[in-house]
Amino acid sequence: MGHRAAIIGAGHTRFGAMPDGPRSLLRSAVDQAFQSVDRGLDRASVTDAYLASLGFGGWQIGNASTVMAEEAGLTGVPTVRVENACASGGFALRAAVNAVRSGATALALVVGLEKMTDQPAARRRYWLGVSGDTEWERLAGLTFAGVYGLIAARYLAEHHVGREALSEVARKNHENGALNPNAHFQKRVTREDVERAAKVASPLGLYDCCPVSDGAAALLVAPAEAARQYTDTPVYVDGMGAGSDYLAVQERADLTRFAATRWAMDGALHEAGVSRGAISFLEVHDCFTIAELLALEDLGFAEPGAAGPLTLSGATARTGRLPVNPDGGLKAKGHPIGATGVSQAYEVFQQLRRAAGARQVPGAERALTHNVGGAGATASVAVYSVG
Ligand code: COA
Repeated sequence: MGHRAAIIGAGHTRFGAMPDGPRSLLRSAVDQAFQSVDRGLDRASVTDAYLASLGFGGWQIGNASTVMAEEAGLTGVPTVRVENACASGGFALRAAVNAVRSGATALALVVGLEKMTDQPAARRRYWLGVSGDTEWERLAGLTFAGVYGLIAARYLAEHHVGREALSEVARKNHENGALNPNAHFQKRVTREDVERAAKVASPLGLYDCCPVSDGAAALLVAPAEAARQYTDTPVYVDGMGAGSDYLAVQERADLTRFAATRWAMDGALHEAGVSRGAISFLEVHDCFTIAELLALEDLGFAEPGAAGPLTLSGATARTGRLPVNPDGGLKAKGHPIGATGVSQAYEVFQQLRRAAGARQVPGAERALTHNVGGAGATASVAVYSVG
């Protein structure tokens, strides 16, 4: 594809159990995105808008994107909702970037939103469950924690890895979250805390799981050629890739590898024309601690079975050789489903512009985001650089 796209503005609410309703979360993230454009941006310049949302719990399950238009002050602009479960945000960004690159749209808004904490626990389990395979996994009573628990048990046994590798993922991401004012959890935990916590789906305990969070994030995407009229430091989307696999884990070739991530990574690197070594830090989909280890391996930063030792070596810490999830990841920052993929790109926008404050990754020049839907069923990967 000839054109490149650039992110010129970004907004983010606090993630967590928020008093605000979905409309108010949406409005806050969008207002902040417009305010962040260095030389200002008239809302009338927006020509397309995308909403990433699972429609959690039944809130405005149809036509939610028109609510975004109302709250963003964008009535008159074509809007669409993108739903790919937990990867909705990554796929909404992909749709916006492709529309901008093709020349079909001049300026796109991408919003990710979920309001989850106002639902009773049984309804939450139902709503998350129907984003997994409904014929086999749900019939067997499996939640997402259940599926990832089985994957984790298999992974630890297959690779003779101890559970301290999972505990270190949680410890590191909580440490990063403690530096992020938007994070759901801003408290540090030790590996012992992680290991002593109540079990959710063995071997995964409370601190191995992402929480249930509310929140919203927003991005403004322009053609690269126009980006400098808005800011001196646009963040370019150099390459994107995506892939979809069987929904049910049992249908896949391998239980401990996600092919969708590998396909998405191949596409993103090919488009960006860079190698893994050029990437300064990663934002990966750590919905459960095991998922961060799988991501490192499927993205090709570690051989199968080697992500645990890599994590335990400190390489993935914020100041390590390959920082992973400097914003706290889904684990500590939170996981309001539709907002997550958009939030990952928000973090890249802050980091590459040296605006990430206490959690700044030293020397960050290129970054990668990785957003997964279901237990590895769909994945979207993007590679970014700063102008
Ligand atoms: N990590 C750390 N602490 C957590 C937590 C998490 N994931 N989830 C909840 N807590 C804390 C709460 O803050 C609360 O602390 P407090 O007592 O100090 O206030 C305490 O644990 C109990 O919270 P509660 O909301 O009652 O927990 P719960 O038992 O209902 O839910 C999980 C815990 C792990 C089951 C729930 O967060 C969950 O289902 N997570 C996974 C969500 C998911 O599947 N998303 C899709 C992924 S693909």
